[in-house]
Amino acid sequence: MNVLGIESSCDETGVALVSSLGNGVPRLRAHALHTQVQMHQAYGGVVPELASRDHIRRVLPLAREVLAQAGSTLDEVDVVAFTRGPGLAGALLVGAGVACALAAALGRPTLGVHHLEGHLLSPFLSADPPEFPFVALLVSGGHTQLMRVDAVGSYELLGETIDDAAGEAFDKSAKLLGLGYPGGPALARLATQGRADAYALPRPLLHSGDLDFSFAGLKTAVLTQHRKLGPEPTAAQVADLAASTQAAIVEVLVKKALNALKTAGLKRLVVSGGVGANAELRRQLDEAAARRGWRVHYPELALCTDNGAMIALAAAMRLAAGASQATKDYAFDVRPRWPLAEIS
Ligand code: KG4
Ligand code: ZN
Repeated sequence: MNVLGIESSCDETGVALVSSLGNGVPRLRAHALHTQVQMHQAYGGVVPELASRDHIRRVLPLAREVLAQAGSTLDEVDVVAFTRGPGLAGALLVGAGVACALAAALGRPTLGVHHLEGHLLSPFLSADPPEFPFVALLVSGGHTQLMRVDAVGSYELLGETIDDAAGEAFDKSAKLLGLGYPGGPALARLATQGRADAYALPRPLLHSGDLDFSFAGLKTAVLTQHRKLGPEPTAAQVADLAASTQAAIVEVLVKKALNALKTAGLKRLVVSGGVGANAELRRQLDEAAARRGWRVHYPELALCTDNGAMIALAAAMRLAAGASQATKDYAFDVRPRWPLAEIS
């Protein structure tokens, strides 16, 4: 079965073709991505209306590119999958509208996919795919959640952020340090040149005893520290503050992820979402897991942030598991707010 997947929930247009073979193992045939980062940079963040307009321009050329790369054609597409939510309403409508129009023209069914389920399952496309059950640490620009995953569609929320997401903490701190948008990768890069113990920043809820997170207070602490450095901090001071900020975020993520594994009685962790690309997070998780004989699985680096491959994959896996059925009613709707726990 060949699934064409379309992702358009935020500032990346992604299209991919995934084939599930007879044994149920999904294979990524091709994927293509257009990031709007440059376009939104001038505004310091994502402008939803501009995002929607750009998705419209990009999605069909990307679909053509993917089919050509895969040596395939539209005729060979069995199902068209799209991100149904959560995300920006207008941006989601572009992907959903194009997917349904394309599927209707081809006489093929569609399937709306949960964006976070895409992130969660994305390590199944890696060279070292996980096995069920596992604990998932989902860390993106909009979400920070720990889930127990027993099978496709079986997602139990163990803990989540009560305010900002981890990616938001990276982005907002980076903005305060003058690193622009999106700040996560820029802050991580600068952090490699700084000392992580230079400034004592708070580790919110580190000892709360539960699996929840809170990152809103951290950016205030970063702002206060930045102001203390005066109007013209040295490059070394800013690098130290970046390293200290990253250390605070990473320490909390690692501690809570390990606690979640203990609570769930599991030895396998899957990390996904944009922040899962963070090298320091990966280093600390790998080290902590190796000490205990546990395993950590990640998506390929290119599939950590938003992409079409994870949407095609999630659809293929749901269909293979019998968790969803693709339909031909083409009466799409989108779910800008959509708790993952609502799907099964
Ligand atoms: O999963 P994603 O692409 O989009 C959402 O669904 O939100 O995640 C984007 C987030 C942004 O906050 C970005 O700054 C962060 O992931 N991010 C990183 C890194 N790469 C991306 N944060 C820290 N270190 C990185 N290397
Ligand atoms: Zn995402």
